[in-house]
Amino acid sequence: MVAAVSTGRPVAGGGHDDLEKRGARCGAARPVATRRTSFYANLRPQLYRLIESETVDPVRNPYAPGAGQRPPELAGRDRELQQFEVVLERVARGRPERSMIITGLRGVGKTVLLNAFRSMAIQRLWGTGKIEARPDQSIRRPVASALHMAIRELAPRHRAPDRIEEFLGVLKAFAQAGEEPAGKSKARVHRWQPGIDVPAARGRADSGDLEIDLTELFVDAASVATDVGVGISLFVDEMQDIPADDVSALCAACHELSQNGGPLIVVGAGLPHLPAVLSASKSYSERLFRYARIDRLDRESADFALLAPAQREDVTFTEEALDALYGAADGYPYFVQAYAKVVWDVAPDTPITADDIRVAAPEAESELAVGFFGSRYDRATPAERDYMRAMATLGDDPVPTSAVADELGRKPSSLSPARDGLIKKGLIYSAERGLVAFTVPHFGKFLRAQPA
Ligand SMILES: Nc1ncnc2c1ncn2[C@@H]1O[C@H](COP(=O)(O)OP(=O)(O)OP(=O)(O)O)[C@@H](O)[C@H]1O
Ligand SMILES: [Mg+2]
Repeated sequence: MVAAVSTGRPVAGGGHDDLEKRGARCGAARPVATRRTSFYANLRPQLYRLIESETVDPVRNPYAPGAGQRPPELAGRDRELQQFEVVLERVARGRPERSMIITGLRGVGKTVLLNAFRSMAIQRLWGTGKIEARPDQSIRRPVASALHMAIRELAPRHRAPDRIEEFLGVLKAFAQAGEEPAGKSKARVHRWQPGIDVPAARGRADSGDLEIDLTELFVDAASVATDVGVGISLFVDEMQDIPADDVSALCAACHELSQNGGPLIVVGAGLPHLPAVLSASKSYSERLFRYARIDRLDRESADFALLAPAQREDVTFTEEALDALYGAADGYPYFVQAYAKVVWDVAPDTPITADDIRVAAPEAESELAVGFFGSRYDRATPAERDYMRAMATLGDDPVPTSAVADELGRKPSSLSPARDGLIKKGLIYSAERGLVAFTVPHFGKFLRAQPA
């Protein structure tokens, strides 16, 4: 049976009428019965055959497995998009508003959603900038670059260029305040060149204390946005990786902003333990951010993610194919894209069938084993790998660290370096005190399938 979401041309063959009609419409608009039209009319049967045999054309494969790759259809995220719409609207009206933080496992679509939020802000003519946090790297310079970009977006619409220059002077001072004291020749060589050709201001956002400096910088940026009648949105991906001191400074600056109602928001995305990271740094962070945990797509959304892009290419799937795909991808967006991509290339014709999925599955799985699982596994040290294998043996739910120690016949304390290393590499997270889980969906299954 062909899938319920009709493509308008569900089964091969239905296209002829369609082309016929299109041809007729063209003909009506431009009634020039030339030799050329009759030439094509004669060629039509051969052309149809050619088109039919290429209905599932690899060149037009719409699916997009890859980190942060924009999916052909952003399925199942309407609630989050609506929530963010409300956030933008409230901030624009000067209402007190909590900012948003998206959390979820690897490959679930956090980066993509963050980018969609950014597009929404840009559509409202907001200034936007984005950073990707890295362990052991201060956010000072990345934040400076991101805000520089946001202000550049607003500058052409600002009536007073000196207000922009004034802000850029503060921004430059902020960026440079984190540097080694002047005088050390090395520091001069590495002096940040932000492409800001105004002199650095003095006495604002340049104390060297990130909490004070960020607060002042955010307040000033928000005030420039107010002049233009819009807001600024700073997007932070992999937010759990921000070093502890910087997280605390960022929360404090957001807290300050939320109190004075400036139109600047920080929107974050990170792994499921991000809320715990934030509340460990500032207890009020729970009230500061609205958390949205995103997860695997439900059946309807997963089908939509597959069918809508296919429909645009006049291709569809049978119900049995959709059942098989949901069974394989389990609704995880990365897997949905990865399986669909291979299946499309394998399928000879539309509708795509369960048989096509069966043929494609081994190739899709081996691509995932290398690109999605293997690349992460390779980052772990031998001790960390032992730790993960022990976790995998214990099942797919969060497991007690003490059980991992028992499994390895070791003292829990001796395993702390491996556990901490894995958390830092973003391969596992601590779901609750004393429990650990994989950040990568199906990672346990992958490890169990590996030869010992
Ligand atoms: N809502 C969605 N519908 C369909 N496909 C999606 C959706 N969200 C994400 N994807 C696809 O899933 C893949 C992973 O998305 P993304 O990189 O945003 O995940 P992530 O959560 O940021 O992962 P990571 O934690 O590894 O950074 C991409 O190929 C993307 O196209
Ligand atoms: Mg991401």
